[in-house]
Amino acid sequence: MVKADLAILNIGQIASPKKAGPIRGKEMSSLETRHNMHIAIEGGKISYVGRENVEAREYIDGTGLVVIPGFVDSHTHIPFVGSRSKEFLMRLSGKSYMEIMKTGGGIRSTVKEVRKASASELVAESLIHLDRMLSLGVTTIEGKSGYGLDKENELKQLKVLKTLDSIHPVDLVPTFLGAHAVAEEYESSDSFLYSMAEMLDDVSEYTDTVDIFCENGVFSENQSRWYLKRAKEKGFKLKLHADELSASGGGRLAVELGALSADHLISADDGTLELLSNSNTVATILPGTSFFLNEAFAKGRELVDRGAIVALASDFNPGSCNIYDPFFIIFLAVSRCGLSVEEAIIAYTVNGAKALCLEDRKGRIEAGFDADLVLIKAGDYSEIVYNFSRNIVSGVIKSGKRVR
Ligand code: NIG
Ligand code: FE
Repeated sequence: MVKADLAILNIGQIASPKKAGPIRGKEMSSLETRHNMHIAIEGGKISYVGRENVEAREYIDGTGLVVIPGFVDSHTHIPFVGSRSKEFLMRLSGKSYMEIMKTGGGIRSTVKEVRKASASELVAESLIHLDRMLSLGVTTIEGKSGYGLDKENELKQLKVLKTLDSIHPVDLVPTFLGAHAVAEEYESSDSFLYSMAEMLDDVSEYTDTVDIFCENGVFSENQSRWYLKRAKEKGFKLKLHADELSASGGGRLAVELGALSADHLISADDGTLELLSNSNTVATILPGTSFFLNEAFAKGRELVDRGAIVALASDFNPGSCNIYDPFFIIFLAVSRCGLSVEEAIIAYTVNGAKALCLEDRKGRIEAGFDADLVLIKAGDYSEIVYNFSRNIVSGVIKSGKRVR
């Protein structure tokens, strides 16, 4: 007899990655499915998966449910405040994201709002998003600074992420993205980037990961190399917004510097795809951004076929992707980037965990892993894609507790 705090009994189908992350290339094409099984949870961890009787303090009937690992959204821009709906309409009438950015809109308009907002306003607005994301099964979320662009406000955002992690069930993983855009008080991008590099020691109290928007017209490949090398020397892990709207050299640079992940890759050229596929840098694709900006989609199929470690995330932010629903992102990955359902689920679970260095404890349904689970009303995991718009989540377990 297995003893537990919580047991999910007679689960119709457990669908989980077969091994801990990272899972690359061909190995991404299969999920392990187990039927009529119980999951026992103790101390916030999965303690047993099998058919033995479980005696627990609380039970959930798993009949007619598919259980998958909680989604790990490894790229969002939480926390922020304010709406950019006007820019969205400007884009629909022909202006591009970069044109809007160059005329002082875009990231800088959210910077104005975030600088004005108090930490508690940022917390309050973020909690609304976190509640909704958790109810859709997102149990781990990376959040970035990058809407402060000065010491006071960048640190404010990082502190807000720490607060959110302590008061909300979701696990928040912070990243410093001071190098997101050039603050309006700076004439040159070099001097701005220098000021961000000067902040790294202060930032290290709140995060061990640094990101940069390596993009033509924002920070060049050379500027990014200079900045990221400094961060690496100080012991930071690296992420890049790479080859998003133009072939910026970001994907190549990510491999050169041994970055944890290169994200976006919409415009990555053939050589970059090949380099990434032979590296341990996670290739994170963000199809919600392509959809929201009406841009091309990253070559997800090619990355998997070439052997890359592909992760999938939302990029949730007020400008380029006002979408946080993992079901919709998975739908886009499958229908627009050519991933199979299995690959998309692996990309949003174990490989997302790998992009946050959490692969030892997140992204799989196995004894010893965190008890972060999504309970889905379906007969088979493939319905995640087919029924993406129907909210088929019937329950969410976070660190062993039922939160929905
Ligand atoms: O990932 N490209 C840079 N950063 C975000 C957009 C942020 C914004 O527009 O506010 C992105 O697309
Ligand atoms: Fe982003």
